Amino acid sequence: MTNAKIAVVVGSLRAGSFNRKLSHAVVRLAPPDLSFSDVRIDDLPLYNQDDDDRPAVASVARLRNQIRDCDGVLFVTPEYNRSVPGGLKNAIDHGSRPYGHNVWASKPAGIIGISPGKMGTSMAQQHLRNILASVDMPTLALPEVFLQADDKIFDSAGNVAANTQQFLRSWITRFHDWVQQHKR
Ligand code: FNR
Repeated sequence: MTNAKIAVVVGSLRAGSFNRKLSHAVVRLAPPDLSFSDVRIDDLPLYNQDDDDRPAVASVARLRNQIRDCDGVLFVTPEYNRSVPGGLKNAIDHGSRPYGHNVWASKPAGIIGISPGKMGTSMAQQHLRNILASVDMPTLALPEVFLQADDKIFDSAGNVAANTQQFLRSWITRFHDWVQQHKR
């Protein structure tokens, strides 16, 4: 498969985030023809439609450029109150406006997540699929990646357990293929 640039959006802002750790573990498992860049969302202002007529502030311009420049987007998100964290929704809203300048449009997406709960972010992912459909992102449907953050999932170096590695490698192959199919 040919090279592809993947922008990684992590829905958690906290320092010890399981989802950030998972994003790093996935990057380590990925083949060298996939390159990854982290998308910062913690310094974005709250989206306000009144700002659509003004030049974007630096953090918003950075987000928009980074998404414009990528071939695909990997969302790695926790579940907050059975949906996506507000910070992630805020970032998606920023990228979707001003009207007619939606940077997410046509970018292939993948979603994975990890939670201490047994449902492993499934509700958040389902909500995220709805949001991504509305910003015109073709999103890989299967396999779904709902991981539970038990005490065995990460080793001390942040690598996931062997059986999870195997599963994630096969997911990455599917995602890579998905990005190639939709790459522009
Ligand atoms: C949570 N958590 C949580 N977990 C879950 O499985 N379903 C849920 O609906 C919620 N709701 C929720 C709301 C809020 C405001 C917080 C702060 C947390 C727990 C959550 O999965 C846990 O804190 C994870 O560790 C968050 O992900 P990171 O930050 O570790 O990536």
